[in-house]
Amino acid sequence: MDSSISQRVLSGMRPTGQLHLGHLHGVLNNWVELQHQYRCYFFVADWHALTTEYDNTKIIAQSVYDMIIDWLAVGINPSESTLFIQSKVPEHAELHLLLSMSTPLSWLERIPTYKDQQQKLQNKDLSTYGFLGYPLLQGADILLYKAGGVPVGEDQVPHIEFTRELARRFNHIYGREADFEEKVQAAIRKMGKKIGKNYKRLRKLYKEQGDDDALSTAKALIDEQQNINLGDKKRLLGYLEGETKTILTEPEALLTPTSKMPGLDGQKMSKSYKNTIALRDDPIIIEKNIRTMPTDPARVRRTDAGDPAKCPVWQFHQVYSNENTKKWVQNGCKTAEIGCIECKKPIIDAVITELKPIQERIQRYTEDPESVQTIINEGCEVARAAARETLSEVREVMGLKYQ
Ligand code: TRP
Ligand code: SF4
Repeated sequence: MDSSISQRVLSGMRPTGQLHLGHLHGVLNNWVELQHQYRCYFFVADWHALTTEYDNTKIIAQSVYDMIIDWLAVGINPSESTLFIQSKVPEHAELHLLLSMSTPLSWLERIPTYKDQQQKLQNKDLSTYGFLGYPLLQGADILLYKAGGVPVGEDQVPHIEFTRELARRFNHIYGREADFEEKVQAAIRKMGKKIGKNYKRLRKLYKEQGDDDALSTAKALIDEQQNINLGDKKRLLGYLEGETKTILTEPEALLTPTSKMPGLDGQKMSKSYKNTIALRDDPIIIEKNIRTMPTDPARVRRTDAGDPAKCPVWQFHQVYSNENTKKWVQNGCKTAEIGCIECKKPIIDAVITELKPIQERIQRYTEDPESVQTIINEGCEVARAAARETLSEVREVMGLKYQ
């Protein structure tokens, strides 16, 4: 991200069940890295979870706190990042509502996830207003914090693109005073013929040739003027670079590097495939689940040779094992020198070792609910302060500040 883009980064996760190794190796380790580079806001998207779980809200309530504890346990640091819960910051709902007034229905209907998800989740009734508005709520989440970067997976990129369109449309409609152009022209006249002409020349040089020196000269020129007021100065400054005031920031997607973490069956690890290893799984269960993982189907008997390329266990070795172990697997499998149980042993050890400190931290946080509550309360306060600031600006430019 170049330095001109807002250094605020925001991302959310829906609380719809236990976090697993797929989340850890994909999203969460990435968040841990990002928090050292940017001002990060991470939140539990409980309202987004409602769009698909409105008739099963129990799962949401159970997942919200566990999710935050898991984030803390994997290394999201509350003194570096702001952690909060979406529904504790009602400004998300207000911005969503205000944006909904000017958002064309067709923009929502053509977002690919809308039809894809309806197809995929046929057992759920997703022909709801809330579900159609999912990306708009997400857009409000992002624009509320003027986030410059949004870490998301590939599937979410259309939502970020849509959010950029929302920002552009909003700035276009509300970032401009009805009589902006006339006010600008009047301000130019007020500066006097000679200076006015100079201003127009510098603006043209910048606009047509990208001449940055001309831009800074023009800014200095405006600054020096004595006979125009502050409002006019702001207009003349805005007019140098664009036609409107920028209120909402257009975000960029920060693509999450794809994780190589497979599920127990070799497909992508995902709750819906029932092939996960949860961060909170008991080591005994982990061991059992890895021991019973499918292997190369050609190895029916212990003496049959196998091919790691056809085996999900090999994919785990690629995530967890060093070169020596990987050579041992390749040779041992192809010559039937090692058995599958033997081959799985280093994986069982690696996963349990990886999860041990995480589970210990989960345990510690679970035993200290007050400290978790304090982290959440403080995060929600910080988030709300930022959210209120944006909304106050939004209400003002929309002409909704009557009090
Ligand atoms: N839609 C995201 C997902 O399913 C979750 C989400 C909600 C989100 N609001 C967001 C992600 C804002 C980034 C920014 O993964
Ligand atoms: Fe898979 Fe290892 Fe068995 Fe080969 S030896 S089939 S790689 S589990």
